[in-house]
Amino acid sequence: MRVFLTATAVLFAMITRGNCLICEQCSNMNTKSCSGFFAPCPYEATHCVKGLENSTVGSNVRLFAYKGCVNPAKQATCGKEVIFRSSQMSLHITRECCDSDSCNSKNIKQAALRSSQTPNGFKCSDCSTDQSSNGCASVTELQCQGNENRCASFMGTASRPGDDVRRYTVLTCATKDACEVGISSMEGTHVYNFNLECSDPIIA
Ligand SMILES: *[C@@H]1O[C@H](CO)[C@@H](O)[C@H](O)[C@H]1NC(C)=O
Repeated sequence: MRVFLTATAVLFAMITRGNCLICEQCSNMNTKSCSGFFAPCPYEATHCVKGLENSTVGSNVRLFAYKGCVNPAKQATCGKEVIFRSSQMSLHITRECCDSDSCNSKNIKQAALRSSQTPNGFKCSDCSTDQSSNGCASVTELQCQGNENRCASFMGTASRPGDDVRRYTVLTCATKDACEVGISSMEGTHVYNFNLECSDPIIA
């Protein structure tokens, strides 16, 4: 009986494992792609992801490339164009998902990182501070570009990929996707206590 149960358990484990999606798993700082090992996802995962985050402050660019399984709670972040952009700071996230074994093994596409820079007739308030200060010293206006048809206000603590937690107050142009799934699409950037509000842009 015990042998039978053990055999059943092993068989069951094999079947369950056999049903799991296989995805490439990796993450790498300051490169545009990464490669790693292939491993089964948690049972409930139906998609693999590959993505790239570009967090820029002034001339300091931090990239975070990753591949893995999509946590079902983050399914809505697939294929979205997440951009928060002020004159001093920007966060640009691309995430591509797919649903077959090892489908995320190719290079991470850079397309969205070169998305349209054509002014689109909208403007937003523009200001960026990081660390210590509690607000924007001077607020100016910024021309939005491409699909940036929302204005965003972020206040809170965050860490850029590979960086310490700091306080940020930022007013930006943003995509609709950034307002909807911006926070949950972050993998290399982490936000802690924050307030994010989006509003309609000013028509230039
Ligand atoms: C990251 O974003 C900055 C600011 O938009 C841009 O200048 C830079 O080319 C981007 N880097 C990559 C690898 O996309």
